[in-house]
Amino acid sequence: MTGCYESRDGRLRLFRGDSRRLDPIATGSVAVIVTSPPYWIHGRGRSSAERYARDLAVGFGREWRRVLAPDGDLWLVIGDRHDGAEWLGMDALLTRWLRRSGWRLQSKGFWAQTRSRERWDNRVNYLLRFRREGRAVRPRSTTLCWMLPLPRSHPDSLWDAIPEPVVRTLLEVSKRRGPVLDPFAGAGTVGRVAARQGREWIGVERDPRMAQVAARRLRLRRVRGS
Ligand SMILES: C[S@@+](CC[C@H](N)C(=O)[O-])C[C@H]1O[C@@H](n2cnc3c(N)ncnc32)[C@H](O)[C@@H]1O
Repeated sequence: MTGCYESRDGRLRLFRGDSRRLDPIATGSVAVIVTSPPYWIHGRGRSSAERYARDLAVGFGREWRRVLAPDGDLWLVIGDRHDGAEWLGMDALLTRWLRRSGWRLQSKGFWAQTRSRERWDNRVNYLLRFRREGRAVRPRSTTLCWMLPLPRSHPDSLWDAIPEPVVRTLLEVSKRRGPVLDPFAGAGTVGRVAARQGREWIGVERDPRMAQVAARRLRLRRVRGS
């Protein structure tokens, strides 16, 4: 990690770097991970989709597993799409790869994007809640499901944001208190919602421009010497 930003009270922290390694975060110290990795948008075909799912589950999942408390939740917001030939079923691919490393899918919801800019209408975004094997949660009686327009992200952001009502609900559904981690922080939407709920938040962002956008939105100051 090559830089760190922090709120005045130290409860919001943003690291700049590649979240395949989360060295500054102590083992088992995170209560909930809520994150939206870059979607699979450029590839075509099953082998490309399969590579994407494996890279997330294996390349990043190892550190998610280390930093998350044993009864913590991992929420992944993942897009699925038609690649011109068929829908690839990204949620199932990712679940299969995560299952191999001891994660179990506990809840599945979605938000569908209305007024999609893309050729394929109603782009689907899955909300996947994983826990460690042996840590089941009781299924909910209500389905996590929204039809929403894509939120206006920060004007300087290069990425689409997760709608805030979705993030709010995912954090409320997760019972465990403690720090929230977003290893693909983008413009810091998860951080904003976590802060409003009085939660501690740790973000990691690889792109220096996006780290600055998130730092500005969250009023974080660069930690001297970082
Ligand atoms: C889909 S965006 C996240 C958007 C965010 N949820 C928001 O509301 O603004 C994904 C972010 O992950 C970042 N990213 C991609 N690869 C990364 C990596 N290896 N480590 C850390 N961040 C990464 C990208 O730069 C991008 O800002």
